[in-house]
Amino acid sequence: MQTHEERLDFLKQSLPAIGPSMLKCDFGNLHREMELLHRAQTRVLHLDVMDGHFVPNLSYGPMVIERLRERSRTFFDAHLMISNPQQYLDEYVRVGCDGITVHVEAVPEPTQLLREIRSRGLVAGIAVNPDTEFERVAPFLEEADLFLVMSVQPGFGGQKFLPHVVSKIQAARETGPQGLVISVDGGIGKSTISQCAAAGCDLFVAGSSVFDQPCYSEAMSELRQLAMDAQAV
Ligand code: DX5
Ligand code: ZN
Repeated sequence: MQTHEERLDFLKQSLPAIGPSMLKCDFGNLHREMELLHRAQTRVLHLDVMDGHFVPNLSYGPMVIERLRERSRTFFDAHLMISNPQQYLDEYVRVGCDGITVHVEAVPEPTQLLREIRSRGLVAGIAVNPDTEFERVAPFLEEADLFLVMSVQPGFGGQKFLPHVVSKIQAARETGPQGLVISVDGGIGKSTISQCAAAGCDLFVAGSSVFDQPCYSEAMSELRQLAMDAQAV
């Protein structure tokens, strides 16, 4: 059983990291996908949970995560795009998630839930949709380990990156708590990752730009290098 500190340390030591989004993987061959991600030295795996209510799409839930857990020791970064995350928290903890991110649009007053996630030894994340203002989430960043900035409308992979969200990354890096992990999700690829890294992002969720490529390992190291180059400027 890992503690909150151990999990957060593992995540931070992995940064900058590319978190492949399992929404875009081949669900007909999960075993093979996990093997390829392992070979690509994936340290953070992004798990998109959708309920067909908070977002107009349905993906997978705890049963699938539980089985993936048996095949991997990487950091499981669960992104809950569901309406009542508090109701299902126990389940996601039980199946082996390392981090749980909830949306401020689903939980308008997330303080208690974020504390609850941390008290279970997990990394606590708060996410914002592209059209939600930074001010809406700013008061809760102290209660979170991770801030997830959505750069597409949540629900589907393969959408176009919305550049107006970059200012939220910058605002969080400049005014948020020290050491906050800042993640961006949606439309991240070779042409969009650098501007997010330069603004202060350190965890980059990538669906199409990993899973639609012939070699995951090459795609991920190329993206990671671009992020490191942009951070260094
Ligand atoms: C969208 C999901 C993303 C998505 C990313 O709701 O949260 O993680 O799968 O896919 P790409 O990288 O293709 O935009
Ligand atoms: Zn996601």
